[in-house]
Amino acid sequence: MKKALHITSSARGGQSYSRALSAAIVRKLTDRKEIGTVVERDLIQSPPPYLNEELIGEFYKHADSATEEGKHLLRYSNAIFSEMDEADIIVISTPMHNLGVSAPLKAWLDQLVRVGLTYRFNEDGSRAGCLKNKKVYLAIASGGKQAFWPEGYEFIESYIKAVFGTYIGITDVATYRVEGTAMGVVEVDYDEILADL
Ligand SMILES: Cc1cc2nc3c(=O)[nH]c(=O)nc-3n(C[C@H](O)[C@H](O)[C@H](O)COP(=O)(O)O)c2cc1C
Repeated sequence: MKKALHITSSARGGQSYSRALSAAIVRKLTDRKEIGTVVERDLIQSPPPYLNEELIGEFYKHADSATEEGKHLLRYSNAIFSEMDEADIIVISTPMHNLGVSAPLKAWLDQLVRVGLTYRFNEDGSRAGCLKNKKVYLAIASGGKQAFWPEGYEFIESYIKAVFGTYIGITDVATYRVEGTAMGVVEVDYDEILADL
């Protein structure tokens, strides 16, 4: 059975629709025995550190030349890379915050993406992602509805697809949404949202 990594990033705990949606995805994949083990990475309970000058310096050093201090600075980045490397399926949930992904999810991506690790340069200078044969399920909750905004205002799915495709190597991204949570949603039918899963 496949291994899954479940990443959650809403600060609203039990009230969160994005957490409920990604939990429903994990449950469905578990129930039909597509995934066995699930590693949980809650970005609110253990927030990713922001990048700083020293860490950015470590990102661009060759792995063999890392000092003890460098290894210490890289421990979060290395830990989440291992989780990604070992997972076949990655389930990610995010609230829509000011049209974009949650701040902790952005910080997690900034810790994950590294030259020589998640991507390499081709001879012509283009990038090639290193983590292949993985699938991402993306769960988004928003107070409003995509249909109310101009098409160009879709930044979450397009951003996740661009980063995973270009800098990580994962092009298989399936998106599910809970919309209108600030518009008097009483009960969400997660089975209906996930009907094609
Ligand atoms: C700081 C903040 C910014 C938000 N920005 C948006 C937004 O740009 N568009 C939108 O539709 N909803 C926005 N919302 C509403 C959330 O997307 C909505 O509450 C959603 O359910 C959050 O996901 P969660 O339930 O998993 O926490 C915002 C909420 C907060 C707290």
